[in-house]
Formats: sequence, C-alpha cells, structure tokens
Amino acid sequence: MRTRPLKVALLGCGVVGSEVARIMTTHADDLAARIGAPVELAGVAVRRPSKVREGIDPALVTTDATALVKRGDIDVVVEVIGGIEPARTLITTAFEHGASVVSANKALLAQDGAALHAAAEANGKDLYYEAAVAGAIPLIRPLRESLAGDKVNRVLGIVNGTTNFILDKMDSTGAGYQEALDEATALGYAEADPTADVEGFDAAAKAAILAGIAFHTRVRLDDVYREGMTEVTAADFASAKEMGCTIKLLAICERAKDGASVTARVHPAMIPLTHPLASVRGAYNAVFVESDASGQLMFYGPGAGGSPTASAVLGDLVAVCRNRLSGATGPGESAYAALPVSPMGDVVTRYHISLDVADKPGVLAQVATVFAEHGVSIDTVRQQGKDGEASLVVVTHRASDAALNGTVEALRKLDTVRGVASIMRVEGE
Ligand SMILES: NC(=O)c1ccc[n+]([C@@H]2O[C@H](COP(=O)([O-])OP(=O)(O)OC[C@H]3O[C@@H](n4cnc5c(N)ncnc54)[C@H](OP(=O)(O)O)[C@@H]3O)[C@@H](O)[C@H]2O)c1
Repeated sequence: MRTRPLKVALLGCGVVGSEVARIMTTHADDLAARIGAPVELAGVAVRRPSKVREGIDPALVTTDATALVKRGDIDVVVEVIGGIEPARTLITTAFEHGASVVSANKALLAQDGAALHAAAEANGKDLYYEAAVAGAIPLIRPLRESLAGDKVNRVLGIVNGTTNFILDKMDSTGAGYQEALDEATALGYAEADPTADVEGFDAAAKAAILAGIAFHTRVRLDDVYREGMTEVTAADFASAKEMGCTIKLLAICERAKDGASVTARVHPAMIPLTHPLASVRGAYNAVFVESDASGQLMFYGPGAGGSPTASAVLGDLVAVCRNRLSGATGPGESAYAALPVSPMGDVVTRYHISLDVADKPGVLAQVATVFAEHGVSIDTVRQQGKDGEASLVVVTHRASDAALNGTVEALRKLDTVRGVASIMRVEGE
C-alpha cells in the first residue's frame, strides 16, 4: 500500500458533509485498504467557521473554499454545499487545479452537467455524482457501467422521499394534502419551504440526470416536463382505490417506441397496486429500469439523509481515489446518441379523468363523442348521480397528451360539463 495519503477537500459540512467526514474518520483503515492508500481530510470549507463540528479538527475548517480548491495538492474535492453558485465555480476551479470531483449536487448537474463533464475531461479528471440521485441507492453507476452493454428503454422512479411520505400518508390515512404535509414537516421529512419537493423541481433535476445517462443523450432540467403534487386530493385517492391503484409522484424517462426521441417528465400518477413501485412506503425511493436484455430491474432504498447520502459519496470517493492511483479516469459523459427530447404533448399514456356533469339523459353520449372526436379511446366509464348532478369517471386507453388536452378543452365547453374535477395519468401497466 502507498503510504503517502490522497488528500480530500470537503466543501460543505452540513447534513451530508458531516457524515462524509465521520465515515472517512471512522472507516479510515478500511478505506485505505480498499483504495490502496490512506485518504486524508485536508480541509473543510463552510460558511460559519465558529459552529462546533464534532469530530472535525478546527484547524482544517476554512471559509475560503476557493483557496482550498486552488491549493494544488488536493486529489479529490467533495462538493456537498449544494445550489448553483459557488458550487459550479468551485468544481471547475478544482479541475483546473488538478483535483477530481465527487458531488451530490443534483440541481447543478441537471442544469450544467454537460459543461462540468467537459471541464473534467479537458483536465483529465473524474466527475462522479452517485449521491445526486436517490441518496444511497446505486443508480448512476449501474446505468453508466453495469448496463453499458444494454439498451435502456424506460426509467420509472420515486425519487423524492418527501413527496412519497406525503402521498403514502394520504393513501393510508385518508388525510388531505395539507394535513399530510404538516405531519411530514413536523417529523422532519419536509423542509420549512417544501416547494422544491412538492412542486417536483427536485425530482425533475433527478429525471434530467437519469434520462441523460440512460439514453446517452443530453437532457437538461428545462427539457423535463414537471407537475407538482399539491393538487392531489383525498378524492383522487378514493378514485385510485376503486381502480386498484395508488398515487405516486413519478419521474418517468422514456425512449419513444421508434427509438428516435426521448421524453422526461415528473407528475403525480396512478399506478396499479400490483406494480412494485406501489409498495414503496414512507420516505423511501425506488427506481424501476426497463432494458432490452436485462428486462425489469428495481433499485430500492433510502433516497436521502446524511448517512445514506454519505454512503454514495464515499463509494464515489473510493472509485475516484482508485482511478487516481492507477492514473486512469472513469467513464465520462456519454451523450453520443444525441436524441431529441420530445415535448409533453407527444407522451403517450392512459388517463383517469373525473368530471362533474349534469345528471340527465344524453350526457354520457355527448362526453363519449368528444373523446372520439379527439381520437382518445375510452376504456371504462363510471357514473354516480345525486340531486341532478353527477360525477363521471372516464379511464382512457393510451393516447397522446396533446390529444387528451384537446379533449379536456372541448369537454370544458360543453354546457352539461360543470367542471373537470381531476385529470391523472395512469402509469406502470
Ligand atoms: N440532505 C440530504 O438528504 C441530501 C440527499 C441527497 C443529496 N443531497 C445534496 O447534498 C448537497 C448538500 O446537502 P446538505 O443537506 O448536506 O446541505 P446543508 O446541510 O445545508 O449543508 C450545506 C453545507 O455547505 C456549507 N456552505 C454553504 N455555502 C457555502 C459557501 N459559500 N462556502 C462554503 N461552504 C458553504 C454550509 O456551511 P455551514 O455549515 O457553515 O452552514 C454547510 O456546511 C446538496 O447538493 C444536496 O442537494 C442532500
């Protein structure tokens, strides 16, 4: 074993960074044996230097992250600050000053992954980011390496624990959205400002990263269609139950049937209770991957939290350190397929539409005609009437999102349709 240690600069020592530092210290001997050289924490950049950080030598702590990454003797920079800046500049500066980078920063990778990969390649360095998607769950490496010989057609996942916790609560207790969110906040599963989670921004960033890797194509955050889950109601869950389904916020990345384009989207959707993703409870994450040769694979586990996320960071750290010792780099960006990303209107799936209608003869025929005129074929219809009003629940066969939108627009114009109570996509069949 080499005795000269590999030097690691830790940028950020919060929820994830403090766990990275702890595991680096407590598992130092095992890590050294696995890597073939000891790893040394050479500096820790934070915002508040006076904060007491258990297990961290105060002499290592600095507020000057730029000076730390410019030192020139750093082998690996671990970026766990988060956000776009200063993380982006620090990462590119690290490459320019000879370090490889491990990051957990989904927001940055979804927005600027291509430029960061280019910077890594230009400097002959590694950029690893297993922790950016679904915390501890190995996903990036299986997609990038284990499935490199296969053809991935679909990635369907629950990649946000907060929203899964909320939806699971609504499903199991009949609670409304706000009540379930309040519980998630009280238990620490939701942040004080839950927007990034409940509006699907966090999941969309992960979808962009997953789609890019799965389809060897650049997919940016802006390419991902996104709908949050704040409008999901207890009534939607009741409807889902009647269909033998539950509701999950899904990230869905698909290759078109003709293979010529891809789509990436995040929205709440009904999935059958028989689908493996339906049984993912609480704040857990799971990702379902469908490939030509492998068939269906499911990856499951804790998608966030300091220690699980640090596990993924440490795995990357070991890989990057090994590369460093052997003078190699791991796989870089693979975007050779350069497939176009199609708009949401091209997505083809099934729909569950709940309408409030007048309870009188001929309404059903009128509604059915509108669906037919837009080329959307109906699978089932359920009608419940009371006091001259009725609710009509229509489940369609597969249709394009554009066709469905046209249908709904036309339905809203019918005198007999009082309102469109909910539209939910049905996935996983
Ligand atoms: N938390 C999770 O469960 C989880 C899961 C997967 C991925 N991630 C990703 O991991 C990254 C870190 O998340 P986190 O939850 O650990 O965040 P966090 O608890 O807020 O920690 C952020 C750390 O960065 C430091 N920092 C902030 N601005 C800085 C600056 N300008 N210069 C130097 N240090 C700065 C903070 O310093 P102070 O300590 O002085 O405030 C803090 O130590 C994010 O990209 C996040 O998306 C997190």
